[in-house]
Amino acid sequence: MKKLEDYVVSIKDFPEEGIIFRDVTSVLQDRDGLKLAIDSIMEELKDIDFDIVLGPESRGFIFGVPVAYNMNKAFVPARKKGKLPRETVEMEYDLEYGTAIVELHKDAIKPGEKVVIIDDLIATGGTIEAIVKLVEQLGGEVVRIAFLMELEGLEGRKKLEGYDVVSIIKYE
Ligand code: PRP
Ligand code: ADE
Repeated sequence: MKKLEDYVVSIKDFPEEGIIFRDVTSVLQDRDGLKLAIDSIMEELKDIDFDIVLGPESRGFIFGVPVAYNMNKAFVPARKKGKLPRETVEMEYDLEYGTAIVELHKDAIKPGEKVVIIDDLIATGGTIEAIVKLVEQLGGEVVRIAFLMELEGLEGRKKLEGYDVVSIIKYE
């Protein structure tokens, strides 16, 4: 039987020279890969109590919504600046390649709500660090952060020290 990592295709020098791109679409386009990915993330969350799944644009949406639906939780999107129509909070952050601004709707998380963040991959950790700050600004509590893939060499976990971080596939 194939393991989750067997479905991930790695592309050298995309989108820039020096980057090895870990392509999650190769997991999604295989029905067994897709099922294994969603089931594996849910397995990582079965021991905790939480209210909300938060997924960062855009690959976090792909995994966050089916997990939230299957576990009977709400879903909150974190979006790149200028996409959310109502009042937002925002934070700028650095990526493995470039910088960006992320936003959350102000009313998306109520004080005391327990939030799980799900994304396809952690590289530098900049995206999730910014989102954690926004969740906390709104009074939410980040109870776990789950990734399908972790690029350990970029040490993204260091930015998330003190948080409960799990990942399923680890790359050096
Ligand atoms: C990718 C990935 C993570 C983030 C990880 O998203 O899906 O969200 O980068 O990088 P970091 O740990 O260095 O912050 P990207 O911002 O490229 O957007 P996309 O999902 O729309 O491609
Ligand atoms: N996002 C940031 N770095 C990435 C990488 N190396 N592969 C896939 N997505 C990424």
